[in-house]
Amino acid sequence: MKKIMLVFGTRPEAIKMCPLVNELKIRKNIQTTVCVTGQHREMLDAVLNIFDVEAQYDLGIMKEKQTLFDITTEILNKIQPVLEKEKPDIVLVHGDTTTTFSTALACYYKGIRVGHVEAGLRTYCAKSPYPEEFNRQAVSVIADYHFAPTALARENLIKEGKREERIFVTGNTAIDALKTTVREDFSHELMDWAADSRLILITAHRRENLGEPMRRMFRAVRRVLEEHPDVKALYPIHKNPLVRSVAEEELNGCENIRIVEPLDVIECHNIMARCYLVLTDSGGIQEEAPSLGKPVLVMRGTTERPEGISAGTLKLVGTEEKTIYENFKRLLENEVEYRSMSERKNPYGDGFACKRIADILEQQLEKI
Ligand code: UD1
Ligand code: UDP
Repeated sequence: MKKIMLVFGTRPEAIKMCPLVNELKIRKNIQTTVCVTGQHREMLDAVLNIFDVEAQYDLGIMKEKQTLFDITTEILNKIQPVLEKEKPDIVLVHGDTTTTFSTALACYYKGIRVGHVEAGLRTYCAKSPYPEEFNRQAVSVIADYHFAPTALARENLIKEGKREERIFVTGNTAIDALKTTVREDFSHELMDWAADSRLILITAHRRENLGEPMRRMFRAVRRVLEEHPDVKALYPIHKNPLVRSVAEEELNGCENIRIVEPLDVIECHNIMARCYLVLTDSGGIQEEAPSLGKPVLVMRGTTERPEGISAGTLKLVGTEEKTIYENFKRLLENEVEYRSMSERKNPYGDGFACKRIADILEQQLEKI
């Protein structure tokens, strides 16, 4: 029996890899193992619980305010014995985190084949997002199988000289996850709190935005909220203490914003499906919002998800206070512009990405 090991460690990787774990587990000729790095702790465990995924290995690497050095060296040191014991035929990694890069590097050192899920996303700007653009490009150098979510991602890989027969357009597994999480009968105390208002969902965490850019983002949001007492904002705050300290300083006392602990994925997807608009610097939310028909102001200088911009759902607004303020205010006040951004479009697949990836893996394993 051939062995596949999935390795992931942060919340978004788990949300997009757990549906694939569950798909692979039903394939009789594959032995599936999960190794989590624990780059995130609480935010990772919450997702594993919801998708009922158990990890056979947990590297438990997270520390408070961890640096890129901490994450990289801890994973390299701790994953080596796991790879040596399990000897997987293929290791699957996801996206662009430091878990993804370090795991791919460890596999390269051990001569183990790597399959890269969500391959080919690019900004071609090494500092934005940081360090994700480096991570995903580096993983593409190592990977043997590239599972590209869209045709555009495939084109990027082809332009970089990757072998065409090893690139597969599958759709994004985020859409598979959404199919299982969004429910008609969802209710929540936070929806009741916002029942008589337009609800804005806010998230922010990017490393390159920590400090001053994030301060400017929060100042812009606060100004608009103070001018629109009829609007309520929900901000499930990332666990990173460096995010929390800036949010505390800039948003404290603003009456129509509620800062809450991270939502579990079912709460988050269902609240997103029912909110008015989203302000974020997240990657995954840029994939989810178009299929939910929710306008997103992307508080970043670049995006690796231009499909959402072309679909009209996403708008890049940078991290300057003035631009975020103006765009946020306009979307609240200009119905025509709001409606033009809130059409339901889905450039990221049909929700069968996991099935396609598992089928391809079965075919490729036969050749090994
Ligand atoms: C990481 C990824 C980023 C991804 C993001 C998703 C890297 C370098 N960054 O960034 O690509 O977009 O996850 O959220 O791989 N913490 C907790 N509990 C948790 C999670 C985090 O306490 O469950 C705190 C810890 O103090 C930790 C800090 O948050 O040191 C930062 O976590 P880290 O994984 O280094 O960075 P993220 O910004 O989460
Ligand atoms: N998410 C969640 N709870 C929250 C905030 C986000 O479940 O409180 C989900 C969100 O719907 C998306 C993923 O987490 O599926 C995105 O994670 P994040 O923004 O941390 O990382 P990124 O996608 O930027 O790498």
